[in-house]
Amino acid sequence: MIIQENISLAQYTTFKIGGSARFFCLVTGIDELKEAVKFAKEKNVPFFVLGGGSNVLISDEGFHGLVIKMEIKGKVKRQKLKGKNESQKSENIELEIVSAGAGEMWDDFVEWTLANGFNGLENLSAIPGTVGAAPVQNIGAYGAEIGQFVSSVHAFDTHTMKEIELNARDCHFGYRNSLFKHEKGRYIVTCVDFSLKKDGKVNVEYRDLKEYFNKLQVTSGPSGESADSKVQEITPSQVREAVIDIRWHKLPDWNKWGTAGSFFKNPVVTQEKFDELKVKYPAMPSFPEASGGVKIPLGWILDNVCHLKGVMTGGVGTYEKQALVIVTKPGAKAKEVVDFTHDLMKQVKDATGITIEAEVEWVN
Ligand code: EPU
Repeated sequence: MIIQENISLAQYTTFKIGGSARFFCLVTGIDELKEAVKFAKEKNVPFFVLGGGSNVLISDEGFHGLVIKMEIKGKVKRQKLKGKNESQKSENIELEIVSAGAGEMWDDFVEWTLANGFNGLENLSAIPGTVGAAPVQNIGAYGAEIGQFVSSVHAFDTHTMKEIELNARDCHFGYRNSLFKHEKGRYIVTCVDFSLKKDGKVNVEYRDLKEYFNKLQVTSGPSGESADSKVQEITPSQVREAVIDIRWHKLPDWNKWGTAGSFFKNPVVTQEKFDELKVKYPAMPSFPEASGGVKIPLGWILDNVCHLKGVMTGGVGTYEKQALVIVTKPGAKAKEVVDFTHDLMKQVKDATGITIEAEVEWVN
């Protein structure tokens, strides 16, 4: 394994922003990963694991430690299980275990699962990034979260320098949260096992998906039936196509803009706080949060309360079709993004009293 020095990190992130890594290496297997962590420990520098670079903002000064670019590959079907699956709350179903190396691109893996007849991950289509980063963030979109499908996560424990396997419960998945964030830097995900089904059943409960399929019925269906009554006929591949189409129309073109998708998490507030806000803003949408409280779409607040959709300051702004998404023009600096997002945080706090939290990881 080669350790390089002073490697520009902007090219490895979707924001296309950031200074250089003091040390940098590509890791294709466990032995190399072990070697890399050992190197950082011996040099007494911090290390940071980079996947697809789609959820990080790297400082203009770069990172003074070792950046480990995860390249562990592989997609395999492992075994078949029969019986109850707790996270999917179904009895007597057949579940197949499929695994992917942490360095696989997430969407290539989703496409592969569908091509091999497995369903479940189609709602999570077209999310940039790697398989290894997916459980850290517990990526979620269009009514699904990866935590629902994880069977176990294989990781390298940098404290004990040993490989471990964690089951889904051990991972403590929450909204954009997991054990890997609580014990930041301790575990490096090397491979993820998913339990998937082959029953072809789809989940089109999310509003955007419902609307998408209802519209298709109206324009092309003979009976004009709604997506609810037609759900049996919708295939997982059609859900994937729909999600890709919706994302394409709603989210910025990654080739044109620097972006990391949603920059902040949607805030979760108490019912009392939500009731108070609802008096002032009767149209404010909300969703019950599984772990308790009420989740409010921050994009709606930025758009309808703060009127900050499509606003640019220099090279940084909120996307014109989705205010939760921060976009940057070529040449923008991390400092500009930090200043701009701090200003958004302040405006949200002043207008609603809510303290919002970044979803994107700050690396310096
Ligand atoms: N909305 C507005 N104006 C906006 C943006 C949103 O009024 O500018 C409203 C929408 O009309 C909708 C609600 O806010 O009623 C929610 O919007 P959307 O469905 O776009 O979802 P979101 O909560 O903004 C989350 C995820 C996205 C994911 C979508 C779809 C977070 C932080 N973001 O966004 O994930 O794609 O749901 O499921 O939870 C990402 O993490 O990078 C990401 C893109």
